[in-house]
Amino acid sequence: MQLHSSLVPLIEEHQRLLEACRKSKKDAAGASQHVMSEQEKLDFVVTVFKAVMVPHLQKEDHVFELCMGHDPEIDHCIKALMEEHHHISKMYSRLMDSNQLDEDLHNLATSLEEHINKENDKIYLMIQERLPFILDNVKY
Ligand SMILES: [Fe+2]
Ligand SMILES: [Fe+2]
Repeated sequence: MQLHSSLVPLIEEHQRLLEACRKSKKDAAGASQHVMSEQEKLDFVVTVFKAVMVPHLQKEDHVFELCMGHDPEIDHCIKALMEEHHHISKMYSRLMDSNQLDEDLHNLATSLEEHINKENDKIYLMIQERLPFILDNVKY
């Protein structure tokens, strides 16, 4: 199925975020890759959050608000996703005074990956199938 054009920028941001998650996890070491120190990972995550995650959440919250009130199952899914946005943002804020940074970075990356996969594999598709008329009118 062709992806709706309103979802394309969100999906591209997901790809960048998933890549960042991979690099931030404990098992990030690829054979040819430089393994980042905890501090390097934190700096990297802060940069990615500011450049990609914050504008992504703004776009997504906008789309989700427009989608609310048309389909009970989608409403239910969106409420759960928005709670996850709060939870993930909190996990991010707490990194600044973490005393187990590697662990907390790993947990954040794992939660964000799960969240994004759920959006990519299920909820974006549901929205695209059931509410294409909403997506037609999205302006970022
Ligand atoms: Fe999201
Ligand atoms: Fe997302």
